[in-house]
Amino acid sequence: MCSAKSSKAIEALSLVKPSEPCRLVVLISGNGTNLQAIIDACAASTLPAKVAAVISNEPAAYGLQRARDASIPTHVIDHRDFGRRTDFDERLKGLIDTLEPGLVILAGFMRILGLDLTEHFLGRMMNIHPSLLPDYPGLNTHARVLADGVNEHGATVHFVTPELDAGPIILQSRIPVQADDTPSTLAERVHQCEYEIYPRAIAWFATERLHLEASIAYLDGAPIKA
Ligand code: GAR
Repeated sequence: MCSAKSSKAIEALSLVKPSEPCRLVVLISGNGTNLQAIIDACAASTLPAKVAAVISNEPAAYGLQRARDASIPTHVIDHRDFGRRTDFDERLKGLIDTLEPGLVILAGFMRILGLDLTEHFLGRMMNIHPSLLPDYPGLNTHARVLADGVNEHGATVHFVTPELDAGPIILQSRIPVQADDTPSTLAERVHQCEYEIYPRAIAWFATERLHLEASIAYLDGAPIKA
């Protein structure tokens, strides 16, 4: 059911029943509340996919416990064990490939990924970012939104490309910024948006409604307008 598969994955899928759900490999660095929303959506069958594995670059990430609680295999690749970013990326790429995902999900994964890895997974790797991209890429988005006095904020799901937080946008959710908001109240409301839009975007991909072609994200055959 998952598009943008490797030829190996297509071969493997031809041997299994057609209803085999899309295999997700989820990368995390921290709390993993988005991971939890994805696990819950899979369990509720609103997301026709299966979390095949969770990978963290942080050994203490609480999201690893969430995965274990759901009987999902976990892996840790600690970035501090690698002298060069490219060595970390190479190890990560190799591990993800062995897990044969239909889609790779970045869910609060706080490492910048290099050209080789992002091109390898082009069209089959998604990220969620806590801002209305292209505004506020990078870190500390909630504080920066408040400092700028803008009246709208939100979250964005996008395909991952080599440029940080700049890949083709799939889905966004907007919220008003209120006069008494703090970074933490904004973060809480943006998180609630994320739990809704990330499983929905993943479901589009898992049911082959969504794909990336020539740097444009298509939903049901039509280009997605940001
Ligand atoms: C989420 O808000 C996600 O958008 C953000 O980290 C948080 C992770 O929360 N991701 C980024 O900032 C990536 N640039 P979680 O671990 O509870 O899902």
